[in-house]
Amino acid sequence: MTVVRKKRLKLKKKNFTIFIICLIIVITSIIQIVKLLTNALKKENINNEEPEIKETTTAFENADKLNYYIKENEQRYQNYRKLNKTLTTEQIVTEVNIGLDKDYYTDSTETINLNTPYILVNKYHYLSENYIPENLSTISNQYALKDMQLVDYAKEAFEKMAKDAKKENLSIIAMSTYRSYNYQVNLYNQYVKQDGKEKADTYSGRAGYSEHQTGLAVDVYNGKESYTNFEITEEFKWMQENAYKYGFILRFPKDKTKQTGYEYESWHYRYVGEEIATYIQENKLSYEEYYVQNIETKKVH
Ligand code: DAL
Ligand code: ZN
Repeated sequence: MTVVRKKRLKLKKKNFTIFIICLIIVITSIIQIVKLLTNALKKENINNEEPEIKETTTAFENADKLNYYIKENEQRYQNYRKLNKTLTTEQIVTEVNIGLDKDYYTDSTETINLNTPYILVNKYHYLSENYIPENLSTISNQYALKDMQLVDYAKEAFEKMAKDAKKENLSIIAMSTYRSYNYQVNLYNQYVKQDGKEKADTYSGRAGYSEHQTGLAVDVYNGKESYTNFEITEEFKWMQENAYKYGFILRFPKDKTKQTGYEYESWHYRYVGEEIATYIQENKLSYEEYYVQNIETKKVH
């Protein structure tokens, strides 16, 4: 190989190396530019979401305009909101006031408004072992199984309702009404034995926590179908359209299991009086929602 050829070969090698280095620089630069652009786009998207967050913030700041806002709950509202970003301000305030930011049964208090039709008993509000409602009265056996008792005004309303349903050939029969604390102890324990505590808690009140102890709750059936099938009956349809006119509400609706803490029960009705029942019917509320929005902050005793 001549010296000239050798030199040329060396030069070629050098040029090739320079070319490779340039290529690497170009590729690295392109990668960097793509990265920068992607980041910029991402940032823009985040910025685009900001107004929505701001909107929620503004709405939430107006929470104190709600007449059921409770100042002492402010920190709980803030915490609940962080965990439930899709809820509206009304829902946050309502659900925290119900107590839903705490596990059922972990922070319960003895309920107030005893011996009134708007008493609230649920997994946050219990009745004492000694509570027996005043003026229990037995429902006529035309409309009930044996010895079924409700508070007198609820009993009158129930009989009127069942009588009017009868005129349309419908049979609404009370099969479980007032239950004493001790009765509920046995019932709940039986369910726990049968299904375990976790499952039992989804459909049975622990003693003191069942509103059957108020004498205002009634389980019904039509005399033919099992009460658990009440939903498929004509009587259920009629109750859906008419129960509120007599002061009764479906206490554990299908779409309110979170608020009530219980599975759907098509057979369990609660007397609250015509005015409240009508409001609940028109506004599609659970009793918990109604209570914290309309009764609790008025501190009715
Ligand atoms: N089944 C209802 C929730 C009760 O036990 O009170
Ligand atoms: Zn019931």
